[in-house]
Amino acid sequence: MTQVIDGKAVAEEIVRKVTKGAAELKAAGTTPGLAVVIVGEDPASQVYVASKGRKATECGFHSVQHSLPEDTAEEELVQLVESLNRDPAIHGILVQLPLPKQINSERIIHTIAPEKDVDGFHILNVGMLGTGAITKALVPCTPAGAMLLIEGVHGKDLSGLSAVVLGRSNIVGKPMANLLLAANATVTIAHSRTADLPEVCHRADILVAAVGRAEMVKGDWIKPGATIIDVGINRVPAPEKGEGKTRLVGDVAYAEAEKVAGAITPVPGGVGPMTIAMLMANTLASAYRAARREPPAM
Ligand code: GUN
Repeated sequence: MTQVIDGKAVAEEIVRKVTKGAAELKAAGTTPGLAVVIVGEDPASQVYVASKGRKATECGFHSVQHSLPEDTAEEELVQLVESLNRDPAIHGILVQLPLPKQINSERIIHTIAPEKDVDGFHILNVGMLGTGAITKALVPCTPAGAMLLIEGVHGKDLSGLSAVVLGRSNIVGKPMANLLLAANATVTIAHSRTADLPEVCHRADILVAAVGRAEMVKGDWIKPGATIIDVGINRVPAPEKGEGKTRLVGDVAYAEAEKVAGAITPVPGGVGPMTIAMLMANTLASAYRAARREPPAM
């Protein structure tokens, strides 16, 4: 029987652990603090940022949101980030992307103090993950969450297993490949310029799809019994639900894949809920390190 991986349940368990860890740290004198910064009015970003703030509060964190207007100058955002870097009540800083075009995102990411970079986008965190120093690095939330789901199926040691990551973004594909490698998997990164994608995917014991193309991975691309982690969230027309309606699908053709896979994440309810849970876990880890204590395991 195919195991449908319940990311929502795993994410709730992480949030429970984070809440407990936050209460213990608070009792020792440090309340974890998360600052989320949003520039402009993008409705999707507003929704994401609000849910991050709510989750932080639910975990017992000190949670602050800074909302700046669309026409904010880069210098002004740099100054805000620098003030958050200096603020001892703040352990995690997240600047919601994308930023308006007058602001250089790269500069902003690298203004965030690496030890408060809960997105794991700073080059120092990227480098630590790349050199296998994962216990010191802050790891990007989506691949970190996907990795926990993989561990739930295969355990922590992926020796002898072949993993294929479909997609080479800095936010998902590359950190995902590094995490799999650190867990001893044999890793292939495939992408839009790879020859014979179906054949490459078919070799995977673990397939992570992160390309942002609706239902691209077909059932016959999948090795029987493989673990399928679908990071895609694509909105597609759903005329069967009525005129102008839409639904969310992943990068994997779920109905076909589910018949072949050994384990598979659904969309929604798979990797999605893990991202925000891992943001909380990263913030908690930053707060523990600031207090010179070992962060609890997730
Ligand atoms: N925008 C969409 N996803 C993310 C994310 O994970 N982090 C940040 N900072 N912005 C995003």
